[in-house]
Amino acid sequence: MTAPLILNAVLRGQLGGHTAAWRVSRAEIAANTTLEYWAELAGILEDARFDTLFLADTLAVPDDPATPLQWPLDPFILIAALASATSSIGLVATHSTTFNDPFTTARQLASIDHLTKGRAGWNVVTSLDDNAALNYGRDRLPEHDLRYDIAQDYVAAVIELLHGWAPDALVADRDSGELVRRDAVRAIDHAGPYHRVRGPLHTTRTPQTVPLLAQAGGSPAGVDLAGRYADIVYTRQLDIHGAVDYRRRVRAAAVHHGRAAHHVRILPGVVPVVAGSRGEALDRVEELRRTDAAARARHGYAAGGPAAESSGHRILAGTAIEIADDISRWHDAGALDGISVHVNVLPDDLEVFAETVVPLLRRRGLIESAYEAGTLRDRLGLPTPDADESGFSPRWEPATAEASG
Ligand SMILES: Cc1cc2nc3c(=O)[nH]c(=O)nc-3n(C[C@H](O)[C@H](O)[C@H](O)COP(=O)(O)O)c2cc1C
Repeated sequence: MTAPLILNAVLRGQLGGHTAAWRVSRAEIAANTTLEYWAELAGILEDARFDTLFLADTLAVPDDPATPLQWPLDPFILIAALASATSSIGLVATHSTTFNDPFTTARQLASIDHLTKGRAGWNVVTSLDDNAALNYGRDRLPEHDLRYDIAQDYVAAVIELLHGWAPDALVADRDSGELVRRDAVRAIDHAGPYHRVRGPLHTTRTPQTVPLLAQAGGSPAGVDLAGRYADIVYTRQLDIHGAVDYRRRVRAAAVHHGRAAHHVRILPGVVPVVAGSRGEALDRVEELRRTDAAARARHGYAAGGPAAESSGHRILAGTAIEIADDISRWHDAGALDGISVHVNVLPDDLEVFAETVVPLLRRRGLIESAYEAGTLRDRLGLPTPDADESGFSPRWEPATAEASG
């Protein structure tokens, strides 16, 4: 069998990806901000053996007043809270390189990776909304390619910070009283074009060293960033040929950066709508569309369009078998290494997908049946990224003979 497909669940806070989800879900919109609700979703995912739970994010209320609750909680804080409510699933959170700083990001990621015993992931985004800039004292976002240049420098600094403690730096020898091996705790002295960080972190090396890195940009600069750093790529692909081509380009970018092509996994978004027949599934899509359109007309919201109901991802409407067939076909064509499941209505559609489509994929040998021990990287067959540590210098002077004698 080739590498099993990665099952990634993209969860949105408005009780699903669809603008009208909160009106039809069995959950109440107030659940959005409760740990119980998110823990219930994580439980559904762990029972179905999803590999990762993925939280998208923006840093401003959108212009559309019908969708202000898609990202109600800070993703890093939410996955930290989910650390104790889960035991196996990878927890991936979106975090912007335009409005944070590498030291804080590295510290937060290291903390979550420790607390989850190696299940943390970071979706690296550069942000795409000028509204975010206004919340951070700027008039607008830096322009597109500059944002990516900043991101390259940012991710490099974070990775260096995460390597600052050598694996054997913590000695903690109770007899001799030696706490750390001084030369194994290194300042990174990162001085890039945009970020300067001395380091090191005040955190020992974490189980994954570098939490799983995800990326979601499709431009040449985005593909380059993905090729250089990403372990998984969450992408919008509407036709199979475009998806095959995109996957080929990202893998080529990985090879260009000295990595193995199969160390970056492409997970196109899909919106499964499972029903007894394709006609019934399409009726469900249409019904949600009408529910949304009526509310928009009634309350003077601008028209949503198809992107609002599926975030522009491919809608797979049909029976569980038809949906499993579609995913198999894309897999056979080399269009994906997994899928980013993005349901319209939480938790309802997620439960149906987990109960109907997941067992079919498992029976076909496309996905794993149980979690193996180890970190998220281990489970996905992904290596710990190398870092050139030769440029690092010890943070502390070596012990003098007198002091150590
Ligand atoms: C499928 C997908 C999901 C994304 N999710 C987020 C997100 O949650 N938060 C965010 O700020 N940007 C998100 N982005 C935006 C990208 O990170 C990137 O900034 C944007 O796509 C522009 O870069 P590009 O021209 O390389 O695509 C997403 C993009 C795609 C394609």
